[in-house]
Amino acid sequence: MPRSIYFAVLFAALAVIAIEKSPRVAASSSPKPLGSPEFTADGKLVRPGGYRKWVFLSSGYGMSYSQSASADQEHLMFTNVFVPPADYDYFLEHGTWPEKTMFVLELYGSQSKGSINQHGHFQTEFMGLDVEVKDASRFADKWAYFGFDATEKSAAAASPGKNDCWKCHDQNAAVEHSFVQFYPALLSIAKAKKTIKDGMKLP
Ligand code: HEC
Repeated sequence: MPRSIYFAVLFAALAVIAIEKSPRVAASSSPKPLGSPEFTADGKLVRPGGYRKWVFLSSGYGMSYSQSASADQEHLMFTNVFVPPADYDYFLEHGTWPEKTMFVLELYGSQSKGSINQHGHFQTEFMGLDVEVKDASRFADKWAYFGFDATEKSAAAASPGKNDCWKCHDQNAAVEHSFVQFYPALLSIAKAKKTIKDGMKLP
């Protein structure tokens, strides 16, 4: 190979390596915080993954507020609520939630008698996720609500603005739009920071 061609090939190879490396360098210098909401090109929320490694706030049993909730006392649902670690840390410090906080509420079926269990209830089949995002720059009403069935990959925000999800959370949730009155570890922080909304009915 003539020397000039040899160098041309060498420089081309080096250029490719440099181009390939640069995005990775940029990505690692500003990592996305764990649990930040992601949206598809048409504005749907991407199903949050990995939320079982976030901070667990609390569980509810038979608290379901959806219209279709079964009145059958034997099949009440469990709810498990999770929030990303950085947003949890922010709450510990301020008693409020930072912009772009995402809450995940899991829905599970329940059963009483099963395996060795004779009394009380345990969680059974996974039914889906309810998700809430605080983002004033993206949503006119600041808080947006999403429902995912057991497998959906993305979901559009509940509409219209100020829909039933939004209204109930706005009127009844103790801190901003979050039901901190049902998350005992956070309730004491909100009391200390005096961030509970006026007129809220606490347990
Ligand atoms: C009638 C009142 C009511 C309506 C309507 C409602 N919620 Fe909630 N939501 C609650 C209550 C009460 C809790 C806390 C209890 C629990 O753990 O289940 C809660 C908790 C949540 C949470 C956990 C974070 C938080 O705010 O405390 C998410 C996420 C959520 N709801 C999403 C939704 C979505 C999505 C809709 C609409 C499809 C909706 N909610 C409609 C009352 C409501």
